[in-house]
Amino acid sequence: MEKKSFGLDIGLRTIKAVWLSKTKDGFTLEASITSPSSLKGMTSESPLDEEEMAGVIKKTVEDAKITTKFVNVALPESQVYTKVVDMPVLSDKELSSAIYWEAEQHIPVPLSSITLAWSVLKRPPRTTSSEKMQVLMVGAPVSLINKYQKVLSMAGFRINVLETEILSMVRALITGEDFPSSIIIDLGSVSTTITLIREGIVVFTYPVPTGGMAINRAIETDFEFTPDQAEEYKRTYGISKEAFGGKIGKATEPILNSILGEVRKALVFYKEKYKDDKPIRQIILTGGTAKLPDIDLYFAQNSNIETVIANPFKILTNVKDFPKEIVENASDYTIAVGLALKDYEE
Ligand SMILES: Nc1ncnc2c1ncn2[C@@H]1O[C@H](COP(=O)(O)OP(=O)(O)OP(=O)(O)O)[C@@H](O)[C@H]1O
Ligand SMILES: [Mg+2]
Repeated sequence: MEKKSFGLDIGLRTIKAVWLSKTKDGFTLEASITSPSSLKGMTSESPLDEEEMAGVIKKTVEDAKITTKFVNVALPESQVYTKVVDMPVLSDKELSSAIYWEAEQHIPVPLSSITLAWSVLKRPPRTTSSEKMQVLMVGAPVSLINKYQKVLSMAGFRINVLETEILSMVRALITGEDFPSSIIIDLGSVSTTITLIREGIVVFTYPVPTGGMAINRAIETDFEFTPDQAEEYKRTYGISKEAFGGKIGKATEPILNSILGEVRKALVFYKEKYKDDKPIRQIILTGGTAKLPDIDLYFAQNSNIETVIANPFKILTNVKDFPKEIVENASDYTIAVGLALKDYEE
């Protein structure tokens, strides 16, 4: 078997790694793992914290028995600038200079401090007069890229592909142009990303600074619980109105309401931009907080849109051989699966 890179999703709370192989029948899971991130994750500037992070990554990958040194890794959406811009139809050459002008309009920091990457999502023929070209533009701080390179090299790995979380997520979940228009909500620990998909491509995405940690804090305050107790009650009772007298649900509700508010705004944006053509048909929840009991019902009932929990393992041929705890936590692995798939792209 040819060994391709593994996918590594370094979250603030957990690290997820996935290693795939490809046979004639499809993709097989070779290895996967989730384990706690280091306390400061990738956010600290201190060399000691960087060393600790590198150590945690190295150990996680060893524990998973992943034996390749090549890694694909994603920068967190909350720290990059991802924009889909509509532009007049241009050639690649024209675009490569016009994009910097666009970036200046959309990215609120000096362009000299970021690395800019872009890809054409849709390029209508020049003859269709009014239709615009859609370009996905990503600006990543140079300092952030350097940090990932430094920490991963300290951990003993070589980065094969460095992209951003949205791209990995879309690769893992979206199957093509006829995929129904959807909203993907990545519910992490400190941040949540809302992404609109139309005709199989990203048309809009933005991060919201809230997530599972904010839910814990609300439960801790309401019940004077320790962080561990809050985590346990959250996982047990979720947002249910019946369980535990509905009390945990009440503490959780304001956080979910704020995310729902953002989803509603995204829906309005979508509707205004595309009118009634191909309305949003589905909400896909991913990330650790997607496992909050009944969270899918919450979004379905409050938006009237069918809501599902992401299953990035759907494409794998050997799911039946996985241990139960991996299958049940499939939504944790969306980004890592997308990253691991990258090497198999044409
Ligand atoms: N069964 C569960 N029910 C509710 N919440 C859960 C459950 N399991 C994990 N979580 C929550 O998921 C969050 C971690 O999710 P995830 O691993 O996606 O975050 P992360 O990638 O580390 O963070 P971020 O993306 O914000 O950097 C934590 O807040 C944790 O409490
Ligand atoms: Mg995450």
